[in-house]
Amino acid sequence: MKLKVFSGIRPSGKLHLGNYLGAIKNWMELQDPPSHKASEGTAKPAQVIFMVADYHAITTPYDPKTYQQQIMDVVLDYLAAGIDPDKALLIRQSKVPQHTELAWLFNTVTPVSWLDRLPTYKEQLAKAPKYNHVGLLDYPVLMAADILIYKSNLVPVGEDQLPHIDLTNEIAKKFNSMFGEVFEPVKPHLAEGARIMSLKDPTQKMSKTPSASSGQAGDESCIFLVDTPDIIRAKTKKAVTDSDKEVKYDEKEKPAISNLLTIYHLLSQDSIKKQVLSIKEIENQYESKSYVDFKNDLAEVVVNFLQPFQAKRKEFEDDPKKVIQILESSEEKARQLADKTLTEVKEKMGLL
Ligand code: TRP
Repeated sequence: MKLKVFSGIRPSGKLHLGNYLGAIKNWMELQDPPSHKASEGTAKPAQVIFMVADYHAITTPYDPKTYQQQIMDVVLDYLAAGIDPDKALLIRQSKVPQHTELAWLFNTVTPVSWLDRLPTYKEQLAKAPKYNHVGLLDYPVLMAADILIYKSNLVPVGEDQLPHIDLTNEIAKKFNSMFGEVFEPVKPHLAEGARIMSLKDPTQKMSKTPSASSGQAGDESCIFLVDTPDIIRAKTKKAVTDSDKEVKYDEKEKPAISNLLTIYHLLSQDSIKKQVLSIKEIENQYESKSYVDFKNDLAEVVVNFLQPFQAKRKEFEDDPKKVIQILESSEEKARQLADKTLTEVKEKMGLL
């Protein structure tokens, strides 16, 4: 079977270290699996598409005035994080109208009861009760269309999206049984990345939207991939630590320092071994040192790690023509692929 990878990202803000280490790093590897992974069964995919879900993100509160900038920010972040236009398509959802057209056709086979029971719908409604419109309810149908329009079969997502992947398979099955075989089963791909916690509250995941329970400002609890060295130093300095003084990994008793050790470990680069430092090696290094020493060095590790990312992002930022050209050429190819499926669907449905 040919591997066809598809994923979508809502343009809802700047990416942070938690996004990167938790998922994106993994997803980038799908474009071009390193050889040691190929032997584990991760084959080279036949098709890889990353989409900025600009039609999805308008189902929750947003600002039209800054929306295009927000979309471009995500595009730049992903290009800098490693989307390779030679290996993957990078598209904006609203530029490939076949997605919404297929979503309409799927609307006619999807029972309302499959949608209004979804946890994602209920949560969004609780957060913004005024946004109780058809688009919010229909969100997962558009997502099914995003995936199935390319006959994708592997979809990197976060755990919260699993109900949507199930629904995608339900819709595909129902369509096939009503009109004939068109769609194959879709599998979610959960990133095996690290769980990076908030710098202000190590019991909460690092997130740009502050959790209601912690009441913390989102910005202080996250290191964004575009943060300047000075901001990174300031945020690291203010990161909470545990009550004792030992730089030691202990997730239960010392969640704050354990989280910082994880970040240090994943971003470190031993100049001789060309490998990350193990947690143990880092602990040894700070055996007789203070949290202050540790945090000062951690800030430099983060700054150094992000430097190439930021340089690459700046290159794209300074060349908007090139970015637009990458998007438009991807979108043109995507429209051709999408048209094939849409024609097949319309034929089966008696629309041609
Ligand atoms: N709903 C996804 C999220 O919030 C974004 C998304 C839209 C998506 N369409 C998709 C993800 C298709 C995977 C496949 O994260």
